[in-house]
Amino acid sequence: MAQYVLVSIAWPYANSDIHQGNVTGSHLPGDIYARYHRLRGNHVVMVSGSDSHGTPVTVKAEEMGMSNLAVYEHYHSRFLELFRRLGISYDLFTSTHTENHFKVSQDMFSQLLKNGYLYRKVTPQMYSPEAGKFLPDRYVEGTCPNCGYPGARGDQCDNCNTLFESAAELINPRSKRDNSLLELRDTEHFFLDLPAIAEDALSAWIHDDKEHWRPQVINFARNFVDQGLIGRAVTRDMDWGIPVPVEDGFDGKVLYVWFEAVIGYLSATIEWAHNQGDPEAWRNWWYNPGARTLYFIGKDNVPFHAVFWPAQLLGSHGLYSDDPQAVLNLPYDVPANEFMNMEGQKISGSRNWGVWMLDALDRYDPDPLRYYLTTNMPETRDSDWSWSGFIERNNNELVANWGNLVNRVLNMTQRYFGGVVQEPGELTPVDIALLAAIDEGLDTVGALYDACKFRAAVQETLRLSSLVNQYLEETSPWTVFKTDPAATGRALYVATQAINGLKILWAPVLPFTSQTLHEILGEAGTLFGEQRIERYDEATRSHLGLTYAGADAVGHWARSAIPAGRQLPKPRALFKKLEPELAEQELARLGPKPVVGT
Ligand code: MF3
Ligand code: ZN
Repeated sequence: MAQYVLVSIAWPYANSDIHQGNVTGSHLPGDIYARYHRLRGNHVVMVSGSDSHGTPVTVKAEEMGMSNLAVYEHYHSRFLELFRRLGISYDLFTSTHTENHFKVSQDMFSQLLKNGYLYRKVTPQMYSPEAGKFLPDRYVEGTCPNCGYPGARGDQCDNCNTLFESAAELINPRSKRDNSLLELRDTEHFFLDLPAIAEDALSAWIHDDKEHWRPQVINFARNFVDQGLIGRAVTRDMDWGIPVPVEDGFDGKVLYVWFEAVIGYLSATIEWAHNQGDPEAWRNWWYNPGARTLYFIGKDNVPFHAVFWPAQLLGSHGLYSDDPQAVLNLPYDVPANEFMNMEGQKISGSRNWGVWMLDALDRYDPDPLRYYLTTNMPETRDSDWSWSGFIERNNNELVANWGNLVNRVLNMTQRYFGGVVQEPGELTPVDIALLAAIDEGLDTVGALYDACKFRAAVQETLRLSSLVNQYLEETSPWTVFKTDPAATGRALYVATQAINGLKILWAPVLPFTSQTLHEILGEAGTLFGEQRIERYDEATRSHLGLTYAGADAVGHWARSAIPAGRQLPKPRALFKKLEPELAEQELARLGPKPVVGT
Protein backbone atom coordinates (compact mmCIF):
# COMPACT_ATOMS: atom_id res chain seq x y z
CA MET A 1 0.00 0.00 0.00
CA ALA A 2 1.26 3.44 -0.85
CA GLN A 3 2.72 5.28 2.11
CA TYR A 4 2.48 8.93 3.05
CA VAL A 5 5.96 10.37 3.35
CA LEU A 6 6.71 13.94 4.40
CA VAL A 7 10.22 15.01 3.53
CA SER A 8 11.01 18.04 5.68
CA ILE A 9 14.21 19.89 4.96
CA ALA A 10 15.85 22.54 7.14
CA TRP A 11 14.80 26.05 6.16
CA PRO A 12 17.83 28.00 4.99
CA TYR A 13 18.23 31.51 6.38
CA ALA A 14 17.48 34.02 3.67
CA ASN A 15 20.72 35.84 4.36
CA SER A 16 23.37 34.11 2.28
CA ASP A 17 23.85 31.94 -0.77
CA ILE A 18 23.77 28.19 -0.42
CA HIS A 19 27.07 26.34 -0.36
CA GLN A 20 27.99 22.68 -0.77
CA GLY A 21 27.75 22.07 2.98
CA ASN A 22 24.08 23.09 3.03
CA VAL A 23 23.35 20.99 -0.03
CA THR A 24 25.01 17.80 1.16
CA GLY A 25 23.77 18.39 4.71
CA SER A 26 20.05 18.67 4.04
CA HIS A 27 18.66 19.55 0.58
CA LEU A 28 20.32 16.75 -1.35
CA PRO A 29 19.73 13.87 1.09
CA GLY A 30 16.10 15.00 1.39
CA ASP A 31 15.79 15.13 -2.39
CA ILE A 32 17.31 11.66 -2.87
CA TYR A 33 14.98 10.22 -0.26
CA ALA A 34 11.95 11.93 -1.81
CA ARG A 35 12.83 10.76 -5.31
CA TYR A 36 13.33 7.21 -4.11
CA HIS A 37 9.89 7.16 -2.49
CA ARG A 38 8.27 8.74 -5.54
CA LEU A 39 9.71 5.95 -7.69
CA ARG A 40 8.31 3.53 -5.14
CA GLY A 41 4.89 5.03 -5.80
CA ASN A 42 4.49 6.55 -2.36
CA HIS A 43 2.71 9.83 -1.65
CA VAL A 44 5.60 12.19 -1.13
CA VAL A 45 5.47 15.81 -0.13
CA MET A 46 8.81 17.53 0.14
CA VAL A 47 8.75 20.94 1.76
CA SER A 48 10.94 23.70 3.03
CA GLY A 49 11.27 27.43 2.61
CA SER A 50 13.28 30.50 3.39
CA ASP A 51 13.78 31.19 7.07
CA SER A 52 13.19 34.89 6.67
CA HIS A 53 12.81 36.38 10.13
CA GLY A 54 14.99 36.89 13.14
CA THR A 55 18.39 38.44 13.51
CA PRO A 56 20.14 36.45 10.77
CA VAL A 57 18.19 38.52 8.26
CA THR A 58 18.18 41.84 10.14
CA VAL A 59 21.95 41.73 10.68
CA LYS A 60 22.47 41.11 6.99
CA ALA A 61 20.04 43.87 6.01
CA GLU A 62 21.98 46.37 8.10
CA GLU A 63 25.24 45.21 6.58
CA MET A 64 23.92 45.52 3.04
CA GLY A 65 21.98 48.73 3.67
CA MET A 66 18.81 47.07 2.42
CA SER A 67 15.39 46.45 3.93
CA ASN A 68 14.74 43.13 5.63
CA LEU A 69 12.17 42.32 2.98
CA ALA A 70 14.55 43.07 0.11
CA VAL A 71 17.24 40.85 1.63
CA TYR A 72 14.85 37.97 2.08
CA GLU A 73 13.48 38.30 -1.46
CA HIS A 74 16.94 38.50 -2.98
CA TYR A 75 18.15 35.25 -1.42
CA HIS A 76 14.82 33.50 -1.72
CA SER A 77 14.73 33.87 -5.49
CA ARG A 78 18.33 32.66 -5.74
CA PHE A 79 17.41 29.58 -3.68
CA LEU A 80 14.62 28.79 -6.13
CA GLU A 81 16.95 29.11 -9.08
CA LEU A 82 19.50 26.84 -7.43
CA PHE A 83 16.97 24.15 -6.60
CA ARG A 84 15.63 24.15 -10.13
CA ARG A 85 19.06 23.86 -11.70
CA LEU A 86 20.40 21.29 -9.23
CA GLY A 87 17.22 19.21 -9.38
CA ILE A 88 16.26 19.64 -5.72
CA SER A 89 12.64 18.77 -6.38
CA TYR A 90 10.61 20.55 -3.75
CA ASP A 91 6.89 20.11 -3.95
CA LEU A 92 6.82 23.45 -2.24
CA PHE A 93 9.66 25.73 -1.29
CA THR A 94 7.92 28.64 0.38
CA SER A 95 8.99 31.05 3.10
CA THR A 96 8.15 32.02 6.64
CA HIS A 97 7.04 35.42 5.35
CA THR A 98 3.59 34.34 4.16
CA GLU A 99 0.16 35.07 5.61
CA ASN A 100 -0.45 31.35 5.88
CA HIS A 101 2.68 30.81 7.95
CA PHE A 102 1.87 33.77 10.19
CA LYS A 103 -1.54 32.26 10.88
CA VAL A 104 -0.41 28.67 11.49
CA SER A 105 2.39 29.88 13.78
CA GLN A 106 0.00 32.04 15.77
CA ASP A 107 -2.50 29.18 15.95
CA MET A 108 0.11 26.81 17.36
CA PHE A 109 1.15 29.46 19.87
CA SER A 110 -2.48 29.96 20.92
CA GLN A 111 -3.02 26.21 21.25
CA LEU A 112 0.04 25.85 23.48
CA LEU A 113 -1.27 28.73 25.56
CA LYS A 114 -4.72 27.15 25.80
CA ASN A 115 -3.20 23.81 26.80
CA GLY A 116 -1.27 25.49 29.60
CA TYR A 117 2.23 25.04 28.19
CA LEU A 118 3.13 28.71 27.86
CA TYR A 119 3.70 31.07 30.77
CA ARG A 120 4.66 34.70 31.07
CA LYS A 121 7.79 35.71 32.85
CA VAL A 122 9.68 38.93 33.33
CA THR A 123 13.41 38.53 32.87
CA PRO A 124 16.32 40.87 32.52
CA GLN A 125 17.53 41.20 28.93
CA MET A 126 20.42 42.97 27.33
CA TYR A 127 19.52 46.56 26.68
CA SER A 128 21.57 48.99 24.69
CA PRO A 129 21.41 52.52 26.09
CA GLU A 130 23.27 53.55 22.93
CA ALA A 131 20.55 52.23 20.59
CA GLY A 132 17.64 52.78 22.98
CA LYS A 133 16.33 49.23 22.64
CA PHE A 134 16.68 45.65 23.70
CA LEU A 135 19.29 43.78 21.74
CA PRO A 136 18.63 40.30 20.41
CA ASP A 137 21.06 37.73 21.75
CA ARG A 138 22.74 37.54 18.38
CA TYR A 139 23.72 41.18 18.51
CA VAL A 140 25.51 40.47 21.74
CA GLU A 141 29.04 39.21 21.83
CA GLY A 142 31.17 38.20 24.74
CA THR A 143 33.38 35.56 26.23
CA CYS A 144 32.00 32.02 26.47
CA PRO A 145 31.70 30.97 30.13
CA ASN A 146 32.25 27.38 29.08
CA CYS A 147 35.32 27.45 26.83
CA GLY A 148 36.62 31.00 27.06
CA TYR A 149 36.13 31.73 23.34
CA PRO A 150 36.02 35.54 23.12
CA GLY A 151 33.66 35.76 20.11
CA ALA A 152 30.71 33.80 21.53
CA ARG A 153 27.27 34.98 20.43
CA GLY A 154 24.53 35.73 22.92
CA ASP A 155 22.55 32.65 21.96
CA GLN A 156 25.25 30.13 21.25
CA CYS A 157 29.00 29.60 21.34
CA ASP A 158 30.16 28.61 17.88
CA ASN A 159 33.35 27.23 19.32
CA CYS A 160 31.95 24.67 21.79
CA ASN A 161 28.27 24.67 20.68
CA THR A 162 26.93 25.56 24.14
CA LEU A 163 23.44 27.06 23.91
CA PHE A 164 22.81 29.91 26.32
CA GLU A 165 19.53 30.52 28.02
CA SER A 166 20.32 34.20 28.02
CA ALA A 167 23.06 36.44 26.74
CA ALA A 168 23.54 37.49 30.35
CA GLU A 169 25.56 34.30 30.77
CA LEU A 170 28.35 35.75 28.64
CA ILE A 171 31.32 37.31 30.33
CA ASN A 172 31.78 40.95 29.37
CA PRO A 173 28.78 41.35 27.04
CA ARG A 174 29.09 44.02 24.37
CA SER A 175 27.04 45.20 21.42
CA LYS A 176 28.18 43.58 18.20
CA ARG A 177 27.21 46.74 16.32
CA ASP A 178 29.25 49.38 18.07
CA ASN A 179 31.06 47.47 20.78
CA SER A 180 29.26 49.60 23.39
CA LEU A 181 28.56 48.24 26.84
CA LEU A 182 25.17 46.73 27.56
CA GLU A 183 22.99 46.69 30.62
CA LEU A 184 20.24 44.40 31.88
CA ARG A 185 16.63 45.62 31.91
CA ASP A 186 13.38 43.82 32.65
CA THR A 187 11.08 42.68 29.85
CA GLU A 188 8.16 40.24 29.74
CA HIS A 189 8.12 37.18 27.49
CA PHE A 190 6.30 33.92 26.93
CA PHE A 191 8.12 30.73 27.83
CA LEU A 192 7.49 27.22 26.61
CA ASP A 193 7.09 24.98 29.64
CA LEU A 194 9.48 22.26 28.50
CA PRO A 195 9.72 20.56 31.91
CA ALA A 196 5.95 20.05 31.93
CA ILE A 197 5.87 18.74 28.34
CA ALA A 198 8.79 16.45 29.10
CA GLU A 199 6.99 15.02 32.09
CA ASP A 200 3.68 14.64 30.28
CA ALA A 201 4.92 13.11 27.04
CA LEU A 202 8.28 14.12 25.63
CA SER A 203 10.47 11.93 27.85
CA ALA A 204 8.40 8.88 27.05
CA TRP A 205 8.55 9.62 23.33
CA ILE A 206 12.27 10.23 23.20
CA HIS A 207 12.85 6.89 24.96
CA ASP A 208 10.47 5.00 22.69
CA ASP A 209 11.83 2.68 20.05
CA LYS A 210 14.21 4.64 17.83
CA GLU A 211 16.28 1.74 16.48
CA HIS A 212 16.40 3.23 13.01
CA TRP A 213 17.75 6.61 14.20
CA ARG A 214 21.40 7.49 13.76
CA PRO A 215 23.03 6.75 17.12
CA GLN A 216 24.71 10.15 17.39
CA VAL A 217 21.36 11.90 16.89
CA ILE A 218 19.24 9.90 19.30
CA ASN A 219 21.96 9.76 21.96
CA PHE A 220 22.34 13.51 21.81
CA ALA A 221 18.58 14.07 22.03
CA ARG A 222 18.13 11.64 24.93
CA ASN A 223 20.95 13.18 26.90
CA PHE A 224 19.54 16.59 26.21
CA VAL A 225 16.14 15.63 27.63
CA ASP A 226 17.50 13.53 30.48
CA GLN A 227 19.76 16.32 31.70
CA GLY A 228 16.58 18.21 32.58
CA LEU A 229 14.95 20.83 30.39
CA ILE A 230 14.26 24.40 31.36
CA GLY A 231 11.60 26.79 30.07
CA ARG A 232 12.55 28.53 26.83
CA ALA A 233 11.47 31.99 25.77
CA VAL A 234 9.42 31.86 22.56
CA THR A 235 9.02 35.62 22.05
CA ARG A 236 11.56 38.36 21.44
CA ASP A 237 11.85 42.16 21.59
CA MET A 238 11.98 42.83 17.84
CA ASP A 239 9.82 44.16 15.07
CA TRP A 240 10.78 41.88 12.16
CA GLY A 241 8.75 38.71 12.51
CA ILE A 242 5.37 37.36 13.50
CA PRO A 243 3.29 39.35 16.02
CA VAL A 244 2.47 37.60 19.31
CA PRO A 245 -1.26 36.78 19.21
CA VAL A 246 -2.27 38.18 22.61
CA GLU A 247 -4.23 41.30 23.48
CA ASP A 248 -1.99 43.03 25.93
CA GLY A 249 1.54 44.22 26.31
CA PHE A 250 3.29 42.49 23.44
CA ASP A 251 3.57 45.31 20.96
CA GLY A 252 7.06 45.48 19.56
CA LYS A 253 7.57 41.79 20.27
CA VAL A 254 7.44 38.84 17.91
CA LEU A 255 7.54 35.06 18.00
CA TYR A 256 11.09 33.82 18.38
CA VAL A 257 12.45 32.81 14.97
CA TRP A 258 13.28 29.27 16.01
CA PHE A 259 9.83 28.78 17.52
CA GLU A 260 8.08 29.76 14.31
CA ALA A 261 10.52 28.46 11.66
CA VAL A 262 10.00 24.82 12.62
CA ILE A 263 6.25 25.39 12.39
CA GLY A 264 7.01 25.95 8.71
CA TYR A 265 6.96 22.21 8.12
CA LEU A 266 3.31 22.16 9.05
CA SER A 267 2.36 25.48 7.47
CA ALA A 268 4.11 24.58 4.21
CA THR A 269 2.20 21.30 4.00
CA ILE A 270 -1.01 23.25 4.54
CA GLU A 271 -0.01 25.78 1.87
CA TRP A 272 0.84 22.94 -0.53
CA ALA A 273 -2.55 21.30 0.06
CA HIS A 274 -4.26 24.61 -0.53
CA ASN A 275 -2.33 25.07 -3.80
CA GLN A 276 -3.40 21.59 -4.88
CA GLY A 277 -7.02 22.62 -4.48
CA ASP A 278 -7.47 20.09 -1.68
CA PRO A 279 -7.08 22.18 1.49
CA GLU A 280 -7.58 19.28 3.92
CA ALA A 281 -5.03 16.99 2.21
CA TRP A 282 -2.26 18.00 4.64
CA ARG A 283 -3.95 15.80 7.25
CA ASN A 284 -2.78 12.68 5.38
CA TRP A 285 0.76 13.53 6.44
CA TRP A 286 0.12 15.11 9.85
CA TYR A 287 -2.89 13.40 11.36
CA ASN A 288 -2.27 9.92 10.01
CA PRO A 289 -0.52 7.41 12.27
CA GLY A 290 0.71 5.52 9.18
CA ALA A 291 2.51 8.52 7.70
CA ARG A 292 6.23 9.07 8.10
CA THR A 293 7.78 12.48 8.61
CA LEU A 294 11.54 12.81 8.25
CA TYR A 295 13.70 15.85 8.95
CA PHE A 296 16.84 16.36 6.87
CA ILE A 297 19.05 18.78 8.78
CA GLY A 298 22.60 19.53 9.83
CA LYS A 299 23.91 18.48 13.22
CA ASP A 300 23.72 22.01 14.65
CA ASN A 301 19.93 21.77 14.27
CA VAL A 302 19.42 18.56 16.26
CA PRO A 303 18.07 20.07 19.52
CA PHE A 304 15.52 22.10 17.57
CA HIS A 305 14.20 19.16 15.56
CA ALA A 306 14.59 16.22 17.91
CA VAL A 307 13.58 17.97 21.15
CA PHE A 308 11.97 21.42 20.85
CA TRP A 309 9.84 20.78 17.77
CA PRO A 310 8.48 17.48 19.14
CA ALA A 311 7.72 19.40 22.35
CA GLN A 312 5.77 22.00 20.37
CA LEU A 313 3.85 19.23 18.60
CA LEU A 314 3.06 17.38 21.81
CA GLY A 315 2.13 20.54 23.67
CA SER A 316 -0.24 21.82 20.99
CA HIS A 317 -2.45 18.72 21.05
CA GLY A 318 -5.89 19.41 19.66
CA LEU A 319 -4.62 21.89 17.05
CA TYR A 320 -6.96 21.87 14.02
CA SER A 321 -8.75 18.81 15.43
CA ASP A 322 -12.07 18.00 17.10
CA ASP A 323 -10.21 15.68 19.42
CA PRO A 324 -8.51 17.80 22.10
CA GLN A 325 -5.97 15.02 22.70
CA ALA A 326 -4.99 14.50 19.07
CA VAL A 327 -1.27 15.03 18.50
CA LEU A 328 0.23 15.92 15.12
CA ASN A 329 2.70 13.34 13.82
CA LEU A 330 5.99 13.33 15.66
CA PRO A 331 9.24 12.87 13.71
CA TYR A 332 9.70 9.37 12.38
CA ASP A 333 13.38 10.07 11.92
CA VAL A 334 15.81 12.97 12.08
CA PRO A 335 18.70 11.77 9.89
CA ALA A 336 20.96 14.71 10.73
CA ASN A 337 24.24 15.01 8.89
CA GLU A 338 27.60 16.13 10.20
CA PHE A 339 29.44 18.92 8.39
CA MET A 340 31.33 19.08 5.13
CA ASN A 341 34.55 21.05 5.08
CA MET A 342 36.24 22.78 2.16
CA GLU A 343 39.74 21.65 1.22
CA GLY A 344 40.42 20.68 4.84
CA GLN A 345 39.08 23.87 6.45
CA LYS A 346 35.73 25.05 7.76
CA ILE A 347 33.46 26.55 5.10
CA SER A 348 33.34 30.32 5.51
CA GLY A 349 31.19 32.82 3.68
CA SER A 350 33.09 35.90 4.74
CA ARG A 351 36.37 34.35 3.59
CA ASN A 352 34.92 33.02 0.35
CA TRP A 353 35.90 29.53 1.37
CA GLY A 354 33.32 27.16 -0.08
CA VAL A 355 31.59 26.05 -3.23
CA TRP A 356 28.73 28.45 -3.99
CA MET A 357 26.44 26.03 -5.69
CA LEU A 358 24.70 28.42 -8.06
CA ASP A 359 28.09 29.61 -9.25
CA ALA A 360 29.42 26.04 -9.63
CA LEU A 361 26.43 25.18 -11.82
CA ASP A 362 27.67 27.73 -14.37
CA ARG A 363 30.68 25.47 -14.95
CA TYR A 364 29.54 21.93 -14.10
CA ASP A 365 26.55 19.75 -14.78
CA PRO A 366 24.22 19.05 -11.88
CA ASP A 367 24.60 15.26 -11.76
CA PRO A 368 28.40 15.17 -11.28
CA LEU A 369 27.98 17.70 -8.44
CA ARG A 370 25.21 15.61 -6.89
CA TYR A 371 27.30 12.49 -7.33
CA TYR A 372 30.34 13.85 -5.54
CA LEU A 373 28.20 15.33 -2.75
CA THR A 374 26.49 11.97 -2.25
CA THR A 375 29.66 9.89 -2.20
CA ASN A 376 31.05 12.35 0.35
CA MET A 377 27.90 12.94 2.34
CA PRO A 378 28.80 13.50 6.02
CA GLU A 379 26.44 10.79 7.26
CA THR A 380 28.47 9.62 10.22
CA ARG A 381 31.40 12.03 10.43
CA ASP A 382 32.57 15.31 8.97
CA SER A 383 33.69 15.05 5.37
CA ASP A 384 35.62 17.21 2.98
CA TRP A 385 35.14 18.73 -0.46
CA SER A 386 38.28 18.83 -2.54
CA TRP A 387 38.26 19.95 -6.15
CA SER A 388 40.77 17.29 -7.15
CA GLY A 389 38.55 14.70 -5.44
CA PHE A 390 35.57 15.97 -7.39
CA ILE A 391 37.44 15.63 -10.69
CA GLU A 392 38.85 12.20 -9.83
CA ARG A 393 35.51 10.76 -8.87
CA ASN A 394 33.90 12.24 -11.93
CA ASN A 395 36.55 10.75 -14.20
CA ASN A 396 37.23 7.43 -12.46
CA GLU A 397 33.72 6.52 -11.38
CA LEU A 398 31.00 8.38 -13.23
CA VAL A 399 32.77 8.48 -16.59
CA ALA A 400 34.94 5.34 -16.39
CA ASN A 401 32.50 2.98 -14.75
CA TRP A 402 28.89 4.02 -15.33
CA GLY A 403 29.13 6.41 -18.29
CA ASN A 404 31.52 4.17 -20.15
CA LEU A 405 29.28 1.15 -19.66
CA VAL A 406 26.32 2.99 -21.17
CA ASN A 407 28.45 4.21 -24.08
CA ARG A 408 29.81 0.76 -24.83
CA VAL A 409 26.42 -0.92 -24.87
CA LEU A 410 24.69 1.73 -26.95
CA ASN A 411 27.54 2.35 -29.37
CA MET A 412 27.99 -1.36 -30.06
CA THR A 413 24.27 -1.70 -30.64
CA GLN A 414 24.60 1.10 -33.23
CA ARG A 415 27.73 -0.27 -34.81
CA TYR A 416 26.68 -3.89 -35.11
CA PHE A 417 22.92 -3.67 -35.45
CA GLY A 418 22.13 -0.14 -36.58
CA GLY A 419 20.74 0.63 -33.14
CA VAL A 420 18.15 -2.16 -33.13
CA VAL A 421 17.79 -4.24 -29.96
CA GLN A 422 18.24 -7.88 -31.02
CA GLU A 423 16.04 -10.89 -30.33
CA PRO A 424 18.09 -12.66 -27.66
CA GLY A 425 17.01 -16.27 -28.12
CA GLU A 426 17.54 -18.41 -25.06
CA LEU A 427 19.45 -16.71 -22.24
CA THR A 428 22.51 -18.44 -20.83
CA PRO A 429 22.96 -19.00 -17.07
CA VAL A 430 25.47 -16.10 -17.09
CA ASP A 431 22.88 -13.79 -18.65
CA ILE A 432 20.25 -14.85 -16.18
CA ALA A 433 22.61 -14.42 -13.24
CA LEU A 434 23.48 -10.89 -14.31
CA LEU A 435 19.86 -9.77 -14.58
CA ALA A 436 19.07 -11.48 -11.27
CA ALA A 437 21.87 -9.49 -9.62
CA ILE A 438 20.41 -6.23 -10.95
CA ASP A 439 16.92 -7.18 -9.79
CA GLU A 440 18.26 -8.06 -6.38
CA GLY A 441 19.88 -4.62 -6.40
CA LEU A 442 16.42 -3.10 -6.51
CA ASP A 443 15.85 -4.59 -3.06
CA THR A 444 19.26 -4.02 -1.53
CA VAL A 445 19.85 -0.53 -2.91
CA GLY A 446 16.22 0.35 -2.21
CA ALA A 447 16.64 -0.65 1.43
CA LEU A 448 19.74 1.54 1.67
CA TYR A 449 17.92 4.57 0.26
CA ASP A 450 15.05 3.92 2.64
CA ALA A 451 17.49 3.80 5.57
CA CYS A 452 19.07 7.13 4.47
CA LYS A 453 22.37 5.35 3.79
CA PHE A 454 22.99 7.18 0.56
CA ARG A 455 26.74 6.66 0.37
CA ALA A 456 26.24 2.92 0.66
CA ALA A 457 23.47 3.02 -1.95
CA VAL A 458 25.90 4.62 -4.42
CA GLN A 459 28.65 2.10 -3.65
CA GLU A 460 26.31 -0.81 -4.18
CA THR A 461 25.04 0.65 -7.46
CA LEU A 462 28.63 1.17 -8.64
CA ARG A 463 29.39 -2.44 -7.78
CA LEU A 464 26.45 -3.59 -9.88
CA SER A 465 27.56 -1.36 -12.73
CA SER A 466 31.01 -3.00 -12.53
CA LEU A 467 29.34 -6.39 -12.76
CA VAL A 468 27.85 -5.40 -16.09
CA ASN A 469 31.23 -4.13 -17.31
CA GLN A 470 32.70 -7.46 -16.26
CA TYR A 471 29.93 -9.30 -18.09
CA LEU A 472 30.89 -7.45 -21.28
CA GLU A 473 34.53 -8.42 -20.82
CA GLU A 474 33.54 -12.05 -20.38
CA THR A 475 31.04 -12.27 -23.23
CA SER A 476 33.21 -10.04 -25.42
CA PRO A 477 30.49 -9.18 -27.97
CA TRP A 478 33.03 -7.36 -30.18
CA THR A 479 35.17 -10.51 -30.70
CA VAL A 480 32.36 -13.03 -31.17
CA PHE A 481 30.59 -10.84 -33.76
CA LYS A 482 32.52 -12.32 -36.71
CA THR A 483 31.82 -15.92 -35.77
CA ASP A 484 28.56 -15.71 -33.84
CA PRO A 485 26.63 -12.43 -34.36
CA ALA A 486 23.63 -13.89 -32.52
CA ALA A 487 25.78 -14.15 -29.37
CA THR A 488 26.74 -10.48 -29.78
CA GLY A 489 23.07 -9.57 -30.14
CA ARG A 490 22.16 -11.55 -27.06
CA ALA A 491 24.93 -10.03 -24.90
CA LEU A 492 23.95 -6.51 -25.95
CA TYR A 493 20.30 -7.30 -25.32
CA VAL A 494 21.12 -8.46 -21.79
CA ALA A 495 23.43 -5.50 -21.13
CA THR A 496 20.72 -3.13 -22.38
CA GLN A 497 18.24 -4.59 -19.90
CA ALA A 498 20.86 -4.30 -17.17
CA ILE A 499 21.61 -0.62 -17.77
CA ASN A 500 17.89 0.05 -17.93
CA GLY A 501 17.64 -1.40 -14.41
CA LEU A 502 20.70 0.51 -13.21
CA LYS A 503 19.07 3.69 -14.50
CA ILE A 504 16.39 3.28 -11.82
CA LEU A 505 18.96 2.62 -9.09
CA TRP A 506 20.85 5.77 -10.07
CA ALA A 507 17.80 7.97 -10.61
CA PRO A 508 17.47 9.38 -7.05
CA VAL A 509 21.10 10.58 -7.11
CA LEU A 510 21.47 11.28 -10.86
CA PRO A 511 18.00 12.40 -11.99
CA PHE A 512 19.09 14.36 -15.08
CA THR A 513 21.29 11.74 -16.71
CA SER A 514 18.94 8.93 -15.73
CA GLN A 515 16.21 10.80 -17.58
CA THR A 516 18.53 11.18 -20.58
CA LEU A 517 19.26 7.46 -20.52
CA HIS A 518 15.56 6.75 -20.20
CA GLU A 519 15.10 8.66 -23.46
CA ILE A 520 18.01 7.13 -25.36
CA LEU A 521 16.70 3.71 -24.46
CA GLY A 522 13.55 4.76 -26.27
CA GLU A 523 11.37 4.84 -23.16
CA ALA A 524 8.46 7.28 -22.98
CA GLY A 525 7.65 9.98 -20.45
CA THR A 526 9.62 11.33 -17.54
CA LEU A 527 10.93 9.28 -14.65
CA PHE A 528 9.72 11.76 -12.08
CA GLY A 529 6.90 13.44 -13.94
CA GLU A 530 8.23 16.80 -13.00
CA GLN A 531 6.66 19.95 -14.17
CA ARG A 532 7.78 23.08 -12.48
CA ILE A 533 5.96 26.33 -12.06
CA GLU A 534 7.63 29.24 -10.43
CA ARG A 535 5.63 32.30 -9.60
CA TYR A 536 5.26 35.12 -7.18
CA ASP A 537 2.01 34.97 -5.29
CA GLU A 538 0.70 38.38 -4.31
CA ALA A 539 -1.91 37.05 -1.93
CA THR A 540 0.52 35.13 0.23
CA ARG A 541 3.44 37.48 -0.42
CA SER A 542 5.63 34.60 -1.43
CA HIS A 543 7.64 33.18 -4.27
CA LEU A 544 6.30 29.73 -4.93
CA GLY A 545 8.58 27.16 -6.43
CA LEU A 546 6.34 24.27 -7.22
CA THR A 547 6.96 20.88 -8.68
CA TYR A 548 4.27 18.39 -9.28
CA ALA A 549 6.55 15.47 -8.81
CA GLY A 550 5.38 12.13 -7.59
CA ALA A 551 1.73 12.03 -8.38
CA ASP A 552 2.28 11.53 -12.09
CA ALA A 553 5.72 9.92 -12.06
CA VAL A 554 5.96 7.27 -14.75
CA GLY A 555 9.08 5.62 -13.34
CA HIS A 556 8.74 2.66 -11.06
CA TRP A 557 11.12 0.96 -8.70
CA ALA A 558 11.41 -1.91 -11.12
CA ARG A 559 13.35 -2.90 -14.22
CA SER A 560 11.14 -2.44 -17.24
CA ALA A 561 11.92 -4.50 -20.36
CA ILE A 562 13.39 -2.88 -23.47
CA PRO A 563 11.73 -4.97 -26.19
CA ALA A 564 13.69 -6.73 -28.91
CA GLY A 565 13.19 -5.06 -32.27
CA ARG A 566 13.18 -1.53 -30.82
CA GLN A 567 15.14 1.01 -32.81
CA LEU A 568 17.05 3.03 -30.25
CA PRO A 569 17.48 6.76 -30.73
CA LYS A 570 20.96 8.12 -31.37
CA PRO A 571 23.01 7.79 -28.18
CA ARG A 572 24.72 10.73 -26.53
CA ALA A 573 27.29 10.74 -23.73
CA LEU A 574 25.91 11.14 -20.23
CA PHE A 575 29.08 12.53 -18.65
CA LYS A 576 32.18 14.49 -19.60
CA LYS A 577 35.74 13.88 -18.55
CA LEU A 578 37.14 16.85 -16.61
CA GLU A 579 40.72 18.05 -17.02
CA PRO A 580 42.75 17.74 -13.81
CA GLU A 581 43.99 21.33 -14.31
CA LEU A 582 40.51 22.54 -13.45
CA ALA A 583 41.27 21.87 -9.79
CA GLU A 584 43.93 24.57 -9.76
CA GLN A 585 41.65 27.03 -11.46
CA GLU A 586 38.98 26.35 -8.88
CA LEU A 587 41.39 26.73 -5.97
CA ALA A 588 42.50 30.05 -7.38
CA ARG A 589 38.93 31.33 -7.11
CA LEU A 590 38.83 30.79 -3.37
CA GLY A 591 39.61 33.53 -0.90
CA PRO A 592 42.68 33.25 1.30
CA LYS A 593 42.65 30.22 3.58
CA PRO A 594 41.18 31.07 6.97
CA VAL A 595 43.82 31.27 9.67
CA VAL A 596 42.98 28.79 12.41
CA GLY A 597 41.75 30.47 15.56
CA THR A 598 40.61 33.77 14.14
N1 MF3 B 1 17.56 28.51 9.36
C1 MF3 B 1 18.11 27.51 10.22
C2 MF3 B 1 19.54 27.21 9.88
O1 MF3 B 1 19.93 27.48 8.76
C3 MF3 B 1 17.38 26.21 10.13
C4 MF3 B 1 16.01 26.32 10.46
S1 MF3 B 1 15.25 24.81 10.29
C5 MF3 B 1 13.68 25.24 10.70
O2 MF3 B 1 20.26 26.71 10.72
F1 MF3 B 1 12.95 24.28 10.54
F2 MF3 B 1 13.62 25.69 11.89
F3 MF3 B 1 13.30 26.19 9.89
ZN1 ZN C 1 32.30 28.03 24.13
